[in-house]
Amino acid sequence: MPEQEKPARIYVTRPELPRLADFVPYLQEIWDSKILTNSGPFHERFEQKLCEYLGVKHIALFANATIGLVTALQALRITGEVITTPYSFVATAHSLLWNGIKPVFVDIDPVSLNLDPKQIEAAITPQTTAIMPVHCYGHPCDVDAIRTIADTYGLKVIYDAAHAFGVRCHCGSVLTHGDLSVLSFHATKVFTTFEGGAIVCPDEKIKQRINYLKNFGFADEVTVVAPGINGKMSEFGAALGLLQLEGVDRAFAKRRAIDERYRAGLAVVPGIKCLQPAGELLGNYAYFPVLVQPDYPLTRDALYQKFRDHDIFVRRYFYPLISDFPMYRGMPSAAHGNLPVARKVAQQVLCLPIYPDLAHGEVDRIVDLLRRGGI
Ligand SMILES: Cc1ncc(COP(=O)(O)O)c(C=O)c1O
Repeated sequence: MPEQEKPARIYVTRPELPRLADFVPYLQEIWDSKILTNSGPFHERFEQKLCEYLGVKHIALFANATIGLVTALQALRITGEVITTPYSFVATAHSLLWNGIKPVFVDIDPVSLNLDPKQIEAAITPQTTAIMPVHCYGHPCDVDAIRTIADTYGLKVIYDAAHAFGVRCHCGSVLTHGDLSVLSFHATKVFTTFEGGAIVCPDEKIKQRINYLKNFGFADEVTVVAPGINGKMSEFGAALGLLQLEGVDRAFAKRRAIDERYRAGLAVVPGIKCLQPAGELLGNYAYFPVLVQPDYPLTRDALYQKFRDHDIFVRRYFYPLISDFPMYRGMPSAAHGNLPVARKVAQQVLCLPIYPDLAHGEVDRIVDLLRRGGI
């Protein structure tokens, strides 16, 4: 008897790529032009098409979102203290440290899991210059409340929008909120350019400044106007991005179908709580986080391990909290009692696999495992 075939490993995500044959003509164009980087033709076309697709006025492409965040802070000359969330990927707070800025952690809202606007004011000091919220899992922050606080106290707002590609809220693209928004096109994101990112800018002037900063500070061949960095996206990334735009709506529709299947299947599983949308009119279904409640038969970590035993690589986004890493944990705002909601959620969260080509049969297998209490 042949050994029964083992199901393939399932990861929390997998990039959606176009057919290689469709990418080859783009590569040919790069080979023919010999222009590999430095705002080449693909870079320019991609920036323009991306603005049209996302419904925003100006975009500066980047090599990745981390350099984008670092540069956004430089562009607005942010200093002192910045209020941010502990419940995110480390790059959010790291971008502050790279600028010599002190992150001040504020707790999250228990429903949206985004920075809780009700707690921001109490964390403002004379050193505070900005707020850096994250649209976690692509769920919009309470952008109106954050804007009101920022306007009242004269603070800038830089959104870490790494998860929020294509998300729309009550007034159009969620990316138009704040002074700047930073996207990630990393391979694990809903839209990828291999590595990549972008800053969404409200006007030409700030985009120009950002363009200087991402190109070593060069304003022209002989003039350097800032201690800039190399944050440029190459022609290869831009070409893939251009091609990816053609399939992105189809990919969102497939993600949405998976999201709906999980929700239907998990509605009757005691102890597994699905996150609800946070006011988005159009979501991107980038992640499918669930919270493992105390009445579930297994702890979150035991369930995480059970999935691994079945070759299903779920992830604990976001655990540990950023504020628990060594470079942050000594800060007063990282103190245990200061972040009770984030602390609790970080102990409960599990992100289930979601990507366009995830077979519905696999979704059912994951739901079934959760129903049986991980057995
Ligand atoms: C919330 C958040 N911010 C920033 C980043 C950093 O993005 P990148 O890998 O493009 O630098 C990521 C993920 O990678 C992220 O999830």
